[in-house]
Amino acid sequence: MKDEANEADEANEANRERLRGKRILLGVTGSIAAYKSAELVRLLRAAGAEVQVVLSRGGSAFITPLTLQALSGRPVRHQHLDPDSEAAMGHIELARWADVVLVAPASADFLARLAQGRADDLLAAVCLASESPLAVAPAMNRQMWEQPATRENLACLAARGVSVFGPESGEQACGEVGEGRMREPAMLAADLAGLFESGVLQGVRVLVNAGPTREPLDPVRFLSNRSSGRMGYALARAAQEAGAAVTLVSGPVALSPPERVVCQRVETAEEMRAAVLDAAGVADLFIAAAAVADYRPRQVAGDKLKKSSPRLTLELERTPDILAEVAALAAPPFTVGFAAETTNVEHYARAKLAAKGLDLIVANQVGGTQGGFEAQDNAVTVYWPGGAKSFPLMAKDKLARLLVTLIAERYHAKNPAQDS
Ligand code: C5P
Repeated sequence: MKDEANEADEANEANRERLRGKRILLGVTGSIAAYKSAELVRLLRAAGAEVQVVLSRGGSAFITPLTLQALSGRPVRHQHLDPDSEAAMGHIELARWADVVLVAPASADFLARLAQGRADDLLAAVCLASESPLAVAPAMNRQMWEQPATRENLACLAARGVSVFGPESGEQACGEVGEGRMREPAMLAADLAGLFESGVLQGVRVLVNAGPTREPLDPVRFLSNRSSGRMGYALARAAQEAGAAVTLVSGPVALSPPERVVCQRVETAEEMRAAVLDAAGVADLFIAAAAVADYRPRQVAGDKLKKSSPRLTLELERTPDILAEVAALAAPPFTVGFAAETTNVEHYARAKLAAKGLDLIVANQVGGTQGGFEAQDNAVTVYWPGGAKSFPLMAKDKLARLLVTLIAERYHAKNPAQDS
C-alpha cells in the first residue's frame, strides 16, 4: 500500500515538473462540464504552468470570465476576433505563445467546427493557427457522443494528430448514465503533462554544452560574450523530457540546471573542451549550443594588470574548436552545431556543416530583430545534408522542443539499427 502511495506521489511530482513553466492555452466551450475547467486552471497553475483561457460563446453561458480570470491570473479572451484584444495579443500571437492548446470541455459543436477547420471565432482560429500540440477533452450527453457524426469528427481529428482525452462513463448532468462525462481535472492535468514526454530520445545519451566561456586576462579580468545559456538549457530540458539521459557542460550563466540533468560547470574553453571530450566517449548525441570564445589572451598575467601605460595591446590566440574535435573522433556521436551569422546564413551554415563534419546545424541570423543572443525568443533554420527546415520566431523553450523532435528524427534516420 505504502509503495503504491509512494509511486503515485512520484508520478504526481514528475507531472508537476513537466508542467512547470509551460504555456497552456485552455479553450472552454459550451458544456455543463465548464465548471470543472476552473479546477483544471487551479491545478495547472499550482504545478507552475502559465494558463491563458479562451472562452467560446457557448462556454461563457456556463462559466463567467471573472472566475477563470481570477484563477488563471490573466484576462480571459472572449469569443470574437475583436480589434481591441487583437491589438494586445492577436490570434496568431496567442497560437505562437502556447506550448499546447487544450480544449476542455470540448462540446460536440466545437468538435464539428474543429474538424471542418473553421476560423470564425477566436478559439477556432487559434486552433487552426497553432503549430503546437492540440488536445480536446470531449464532454456531452451520451446520445450526442454516440452519434455517428460526432464519432466521425473525432476520428478525423485523431487522424490529424489531435490528442483526445476521455470522455469517461458515469452519471451525467442530464440524469442519464453513459459515456460522455469530461475527464476529471487531475486526470486532464496528468494527460497534458504526458504530452511533454514524447519519448523520442528514450534511452539516448545526450551531451549538451551551453553558455559562454570566460578567458582570463589576469586574476580579476576576462574576455567573454553575451550568451545567456538559455537555448542550451532549454535543449537539455527538452532532451530530458524526450527520454534522454542528459549531461550538460555549462559555462558561467545565471540559470539553474534542469531537473534530472547531470550538470558540470566550467569557465574557460580549455575546461569546456576537457569536460566535453570526457563525456563525448559515452554520448550518442552531442548538441554544441555553447558560445565558446574563439580567442583567448595568449598570456595570463599572474598579478592584476596595472593601468600604468596609456595603451595596452593584448595578444590573442585561437581556442580549440570543441565541436570539430568531437566530430573528428573515431566513433563520434551524432553532432549538432550552432551557427550565428549576420549575413548569408545558409551559405555559411552549410559551409560549417561540411567543414566541421557535422550531422546537423542550427543557424540563426544575429544582429537583427530575430532574437538570438540574450533574447527570450529565437528564429532559426536547421540544415543537414540534403535537407532544411525553418522555425519562425518563438520562445526558446518551445523552439527547443521542436528542435529536439527534429534532431531525434535525423538521429534515428542515421542510426536505424538502434531503434527497437
Ligand atoms: O565556427 P563557429 O564558432 O561559428 O561555430 C559555432 C559552433 O561551433 C557552435 O556549435 C559552437 O558551440 C562550436 N564551437 C566550438 N568551439 C569553438 C568555437 C565554436 O565547439 N572554439
